Amino acid sequence: MDLLETLRYYHDSGACPMHMPGHKRADLGGELPWQLDITEIDGFDNLHDAQGILKESMDRAARLYGADRSFFLVNGSTCGILAGICAAARPGDTVLLPRGCHKSVYHALELRDLVPVYLPVPADPCTGAAGSLPPETAAQALAEHPEAKLIIVTSPTYEGVVSDIAAITALAHRAGVPVLVDEAHGAHLGFSPAFPGGAVAAGADIVVQSLHKTLPSLTQTALVHWHRGAVDGEELARQLAVFETSSPSYLLMGSMDRCVRLLAARGGELFAAYEAHLAAFDDAVRDLRHLRVLCHGGDSLRDHPDFFAFDPGKLVLCTRGTSLTGPGLMDILRKTYQIELEMALENYALAMTSICDTRESLLRLAGALREIDRQVTPAPPAGPVAPPPLPPRRMGMLEARRRAGALLPLEEAVGHVSGGMVWAYPPGVPLLVPGEEVTEALCRTLRQMEMSGIVLHGEKCDPPRTLLVLKSEQWKT
Ligand SMILES: Cc1ncc(COP(=O)(O)O)c(C=O)c1O
Repeated sequence: MDLLETLRYYHDSGACPMHMPGHKRADLGGELPWQLDITEIDGFDNLHDAQGILKESMDRAARLYGADRSFFLVNGSTCGILAGICAAARPGDTVLLPRGCHKSVYHALELRDLVPVYLPVPADPCTGAAGSLPPETAAQALAEHPEAKLIIVTSPTYEGVVSDIAAITALAHRAGVPVLVDEAHGAHLGFSPAFPGGAVAAGADIVVQSLHKTLPSLTQTALVHWHRGAVDGEELARQLAVFETSSPSYLLMGSMDRCVRLLAARGGELFAAYEAHLAAFDDAVRDLRHLRVLCHGGDSLRDHPDFFAFDPGKLVLCTRGTSLTGPGLMDILRKTYQIELEMALENYALAMTSICDTRESLLRLAGALREIDRQVTPAPPAGPVAPPPLPPRRMGMLEARRRAGALLPLEEAVGHVSGGMVWAYPPGVPLLVPGEEVTEALCRTLRQMEMSGIVLHGEKCDPPRTLLVLKSEQWKT
């Protein structure tokens, strides 16, 4: 019996629940599976000290991915990233990372008062999306920063760009530095030769994956995998207890258990079908004249020398050089074709696919793209695709937060140090973090992003109209 069947069996046994949760498994409405929602009662183990049914289930996940130990996460990759970074780095340590990391990475840097060294990654000329982290860049940073205690890599990125984790890990390990891979978007990698391999197989020390993003598992479910060696596994478990609830949902854990079992039993067959559906999509979009689908149809990995590898499950619909923007394309697909995409940025819109997509759903998207492609016209690309230069870092995030206090209109904020974070969501990658100086180039980018329909978010401010900065008497360059 898997975990969900065991929950059902327990409910059907008629045991009287004199314990949490307060709904007592009463049927309070047909929409929710109240009957299966329990807490850590006899026979159901304890996530934070797993010895029984949950340990077996997590061990199964470790075997599937080839990790020494795997942990269920019920608070998404976010809590695995927070716990992983806090387990691997001590307060004040230096960490190496590309700037395009998710917010949760920056939250960990802030909590630990870590000193970031940003590793430059090339921008894809078609979309402006970040390319792979070149191993040579990692090697150079490791040589220049012998004090570094951790390297963090996002692979694949939201857009599906994969880095050479095996090469980066070999270099980092030679320098005695552990590697944490944010593989939130890559839990499905490595199950078929048509997909790049995953970071666990590539030897990374800690790998965090959102099962919910790319595999059939409920929202919030994720895994953190650990390899014996550079990071203390007990410290990782302790940090998970800091960041993760002490009342994990058995429904979420049951869905992870089922997902892992499904992949173990039928992964090969499911991925073979998925591959065939993607191949049909590729054929259908091969003749697009204006729109381009990265590494699909008439476009291939060879056209993107800055990509080490690419996840074919991501359909990055590039609008650059056409009369459309990414948000514009997303809007047409929604309103005219009832196709809802994952996100859009200035030059592209992103469709995410999975083993649960059908040939029909992929061909429906391809058909819509062909029709739209016939209607769009070529247009000179607006603005450079390269991201603006990194804002100069003037102080640590923690200190900047302590000193934040003034809300300024965008133009007046130039030259001040930011007291908060600004990001577009999705993808949740910060454009400005506390302690960085607000520059003219950044302001231009924020305005340009808003004009192309991208929704910007900020802490205690309303970008791009206002930004939170340090109290003006404290810092102005
Ligand atoms: C690259 C990346 N890492 C981490 C996360 C956080 O994942 P979760 O939503 O599972 O907490 C996200 C979420 O979008 C992400 O895009």
